[in-house]
Amino acid sequence: MARTKLVAGNWKMHGDIAANQTLLNALKAGAAGSRAAMAVCVPFPYLAQARSALAGTPIAWGAQDVSRHAQGAYTGEVSATMLKDFECRYAIVGHSERRAYHGETDELVAAKADAAIKSGLIPIICVGETLAEREGNITAAVVTRQLDAVVSCIGAAGLAKSVVAYEPVWAIGTGKTASPEQAQEVHALIRARVAAVDAHVAAGLQILYGGSMKPSNARELMAQPDIDGGLIGGAALVAADFLAIGAAA
Ligand code: 13P
Repeated sequence: MARTKLVAGNWKMHGDIAANQTLLNALKAGAAGSRAAMAVCVPFPYLAQARSALAGTPIAWGAQDVSRHAQGAYTGEVSATMLKDFECRYAIVGHSERRAYHGETDELVAAKADAAIKSGLIPIICVGETLAEREGNITAAVVTRQLDAVVSCIGAAGLAKSVVAYEPVWAIGTGKTASPEQAQEVHALIRARVAAVDAHVAAGLQILYGGSMKPSNARELMAQPDIDGGLIGGAALVAADFLAIGAAA
């Protein structure tokens, strides 16, 4: 099955109204040159700005997290229906920074993916091992555990409405990219694990790579058979770099 590529930016906690506008305008102006579908996942307060800048363009927008709860007394949380109100297409769930700094468990990440899907958002579900886990030769076990928690919560039907991102923690923001072979190996493992549940869903599943992807390594990474795009941190804040990654897809 031919899968379209997706290049999604994760702005993390960066930006302000003026800088965002400059970035969004440049992305808008250059979007036509992208071979991949493009999206930006911005901080919650800037969703309205992203929507007004990007509506009617080929670039989608989304959030970096979502609550597992539909509504209620959950101070500080943002629900999937609120994100839909801002016409988000995507919500990242289970980013390693949320797992590490906010104690998000596999089970919580799965519940967030479920909440996103139930409101018509596409969760970008992040998995990936730390450096210690890679060095301990438990990469496959860790990624499988993270993925299985999601599969047992949302099933193949949910995965058909999701995107998965493989982000080795040791490659995030470090300038150390996984080699195309290292990344491909894990992407293939993810696809095989999903195929064991539903081959058709596995064949159509977009699996993004994230971790120091930049214009100089994007082409080689995305040329791998199971790498269907990128989840971009630092390089998504520089319009020319982000657009170049889209063009390399
Ligand atoms: P960098 O591209 O800055 O390494 O970040 C990757 C990432 O965490 C995207 O979610």
